[in-house]
Amino acid sequence: MERLFSRCDVKNLTVDDISEMMQLERKAYAFPWTENVLKDCLQGAYLCRGLMLKNVLCAYAILSVAVGECHILNICVSPGVQGKGIASDFLQKLLDEAVEWNAEIAFLEVRAGNVAALALYSKLGFSEIGRRKEYYRNGGSRNGGSREDALVLSLPLTQQHS
Ligand SMILES: CC(C)(COP(=O)(O)OP(=O)(O)OC[C@H]1O[C@@H](n2cnc3c(N)ncnc32)[C@H](O)[C@@H]1OP(=O)(O)O)[C@@H](O)C(=O)NCCC(=O)NCCS
Repeated sequence: MERLFSRCDVKNLTVDDISEMMQLERKAYAFPWTENVLKDCLQGAYLCRGLMLKNVLCAYAILSVAVGECHILNICVSPGVQGKGIASDFLQKLLDEAVEWNAEIAFLEVRAGNVAALALYSKLGFSEIGRRKEYYRNGGSRNGGSREDALVLSLPLTQQHS
């Protein structure tokens, strides 16, 4: 069956895309990044890629690739097209690109309770290398100000992606 990803166009994101990215960010995350954080990424030395489906932004990813390391800072898929392999195909493509930029290992942090993201990363071969206790905000005072652990995952790239 044709993959939805193959019907998407990849584009380099710029500050002109911020409002579309923010819409998606707010839809997909309970605790979205702020516009300023996205802006810093778009203006900094990060790989900021978007996926366009019928001229609408349906996913984006932000990575940094330097000194042999790839850090995945954000990957976000529009709720309407989640569960259709978009993140798997998109991230695989970006990891292949990171290898071309001499990355030997990828790292990321993920909420310990983010079942969908953990399934995605596990499918791509990431494994847990650490845990940061109470790293993420998990609600305001209504939720007792509780916090959620971050899992640190890594994937050696050269073995699988060279
Ligand atoms: C995490 C996210 C990027 C996954 O995107 P996606 O396009 O739906 O992922 P895929 O369709 O490629 O699925 C990848 C794997 O995860 C599994 N998966 C996806 N959503 C799942 C869910 N809600 N529960 C359990 N497994 C799930 C899929 O079944 C698939 O595995 P399979 O091919 O073996 O069946 C998406 O849910 C999202 O944007 N979430 C909000 C933002 C976020 O949390 N980003 C990650 C920050 S670390």
